[in-house]
This record gives sequence, C-alpha cells and structure tokens, in this order.
Amino acid sequence: MHSFRYVDGSLKCEGVDLDSVASEVGTPAYVYSAETIRNNFRRLDAALSPLGDRMICYAMKANSNLSVLNLLAKEGSGFDIVSGGELFRVLKAGGRADRCTFAGVGKTAGDIDFALRQGIYSFNVESEEELERINEVAGKVGLVAPIAVRVNPDVDAPTHKYISTGKSKNKFGIGLDRAAAVYERAESLPHIRIRGLQTHIGSQILKAPPFAEAVRKLTPLVLELKAKHGLEFFSVGGGVGIVYRGALASGDAAWWKGSGEETLELDGERLAPEVYAAEVIDPLKALGLRILFEPGRFIVGNAGVLLTSVLYRKSTPTKNFVIVDAGMNDLIRPALYEGHHEIEPLHQPKDATLEKVDVVGPVCESGDFFAQDREIPVLAPGDRIALMSSGAYGFVMASTYNARPLLPEVLVEGEKATVVRVRQTWDDLIRGEKVPG
Ligand code: LLP
Repeated sequence: MHSFRYVDGSLKCEGVDLDSVASEVGTPAYVYSAETIRNNFRRLDAALSPLGDRMICYAMKANSNLSVLNLLAKEGSGFDIVSGGELFRVLKAGGRADRCTFAGVGKTAGDIDFALRQGIYSFNVESEEELERINEVAGKVGLVAPIAVRVNPDVDAPTHKYISTGKSKNKFGIGLDRAAAVYERAESLPHIRIRGLQTHIGSQILKAPPFAEAVRKLTPLVLELKAKHGLEFFSVGGGVGIVYRGALASGDAAWWKGSGEETLELDGERLAPEVYAAEVIDPLKALGLRILFEPGRFIVGNAGVLLTSVLYRKSTPTKNFVIVDAGMNDLIRPALYEGHHEIEPLHQPKDATLEKVDVVGPVCESGDFFAQDREIPVLAPGDRIALMSSGAYGFVMASTYNARPLLPEVLVEGEKATVVRVRQTWDDLIRGEKVPG
C-alpha cells in the first residue's frame, strides 16, 4: 500500500500536491511518504506477530536518510547495517547500536572497532578470515564480539542476477558444508561469542516459497548449532519484493492505460506481507529462536517517487525521445538492473492520447534512460512527471557523475512537506579538492 494518488487530476503524496513540492524545491527531487513507511513497517510486524520474539532490522542500505531512520527507530525498528558509516547514521538518527546487525563481506578493522565499542547486537560473519579479524580487533579493544555466521543455503530465488545472493556461486556467506566447522572455530576463539545464524537469499523476490525453502534447508544445522553453541537468534534476511509495474494503485490507477477503473491490485503484484508470513511462520517457529528480519525495499520502495521535469523532445527516424532533468546518476536502477519504474504525470492531461517514447536523462551515456519504447501520455517541455517506486535504492545509489549535484529529499507527513536533505550546490561538488602547486 502507499499514499500516492490522483485527486482532481493532480498527483498527491498524502495531503500534499507534488507539483507544489516541485515548484518549491525544484526538480529533480525525491519525495517520501512517512505514512507509507510507517504502514509498511506495522503491517509486516503485525503479520509476523505469531512468532512472538522477533526483531525487524530495516536494511538501511535501501534508504538511509536520517528522517527515515528516525521514523523507523520510533516504530521500534532495528537496523541491518553494512558499514561504519551506516552505524554512524543510525546513531545520529536516534537509533540504537544494540538493535543493529552488521553484515557485508568486507568489514574493515576500523568498522569492527567502532561497532564493537558502540555495542552492536551482532556481526554477521561472511568468511573465515573475517571471523579471525573480528576476534583480533575485539581482543585489542578488550571486548567480546557477538557474532552470527551468514550461511548460504544454495537456494535459487527468482530475481535479477545482480541481486540474487543465495547460490553458492555468489560471494556472500559461508557454504552449508563449511558452516559447522566455522562455528567450532568461533567457539574456540576467546573474544567471540556465538549469538545467531543469518541467511539471505536475494532481493526483489515476489514468491514466498523460496524463503521457506531456505529456512527448511537450514533447520537441521540450526537445531544442531543451537544444541551445541546456544544460538539465540535466526535471521532470515530481507528480500520481500514490491510492485514496480502498475505501482499507482488507487481508485484511478492506470487511468490512461485502460478503462479508468482500478485495474491493478497492489497486493496482487507485490509479495503481500501476510502471504510471506503465512509461508515462513511455521518453519521459523520450529527453530524455537528469536527471529530477525531484514527488509529494505519492502519498507521504503513504494514510499518514494523521483520528480523530474521534461526539458526537450527529440525524434530520430526510429525513436521519439523525451529528455528529462533527472539522470542515471540520480536513479540508476533502470540502467543497472533493467528496473521498471512507472511514469506518472503530475497533472493528468485532458487528452488521453498515448505515444511510444524513450524517456532519457542528460547524462552522456546510452544507458541513461528511465523507459524505452514505452507508451505514455504525450509530454511537452515543462511537464513534470513522477518516477514511481523510487524510495528504495534510489537516492542512496546516486552519484555526482557529470558533476551533477545530489538531489534534495522531501518527507511528507499528512499536509506537511519537509526538506530532509537540501540539494547539493556546485561548491559541495568541489569540497575537499585542491589543485597542487
Ligand atoms: N539483508 C542483506 C544481507 C542484504 O544483502 C540485503 C540487500 C537486504 C537484507 C535487504 O534486501 P531487500 O529487502 O531490500 O530486498 N540495489 C538493488 C538491491 C540490492 C540489494 C542488496 N542487499 C536494487 O535496486 O534492486
């Protein structure tokens, strides 16, 4: 569910007109709905409540704006982090280190040191060498490091090849065959305390059975390790997929695509939290442990849009291009994963004529596109559009390629829109640089 809909022909986020946000902060700009983020968190947590002892650790790599983290910390969320910088953000946003799990294959000694001193809940260990490094750093700091081993269940999850992680050919985790030996080693290390076991099969997964399959596959190992080493928790990772096609599910969804009636049922497209929960609860309950979840995209994906304005139109003998002011440096998902983001004009045109166009950005790369050969309403220079479902892996993956400043982020809460990150300036672009001599 989300809080973007047309009211009298204008696209709104909660009670705020997106065109007025665009006029105020300029385009391109990211806009997030606080209500949607909160509802997604609450709905997932409610669906998982039969589990009893559980902790949702929001995978903040999806969207790490301080206002988003603060909102989720207030909901009681923990955080799945992958760097010292992410932990720094959590702390600045009012979150707690003892509700953070630290994942990632390349933790540095500096990151480990910082997280230990802050009292991290668990390090998710991704390799045997990393385990030794954590022990070494903990010894120096004079602390004991709580750890979980990330075990790769070798489960095939249907998703884009760049975001599938649960197969043995991926760089993530430790194979099922090695896991017991790694726990033996961990048990013998003086500055390590075994706390849990973690897994993650991939991202943007729209079917529930692969999650349950991963849990079932790991169950004998988890029960054995629990008896031997006293595990406290099992983390099933993140990966719950969202709707990207037909993302505007409201009474007038897809108004220009069909009858004008609601044509798309949002939860028919995304993996509804209740469906996910129904599949995983039984196998998870059987473990008799505290259960952790690491959703990223599910919490924020449908809660954000990228506003952009049409600059020019241009035609070649084979193509019609609509050139907008946002580029692949602002939202890289189409270029990197062939990600689909729906395009919705901020004002519904009177004329419902469609045309087939490529919507492209100003960056000097052929991969700089948001849509190819897509039928959308006719757009003219000055028109503004929203690229839907851009709340996850949007701003956080942005760069300043082509010396394009990072975009502003706006958080909407009811009738109120707050700029929660200002647009970078050209001076920001050169901060810290110098010409020698
Ligand atoms: N836990 C671990 C260990 C992960 O590696 C990830 C995501 C998550 C949780 C959260 O996954 P989610 O619930 O958001 O699917 N940039 C890509 C997605 C990369 C996902 C990386 N890991 C995209 O835009 O599709």
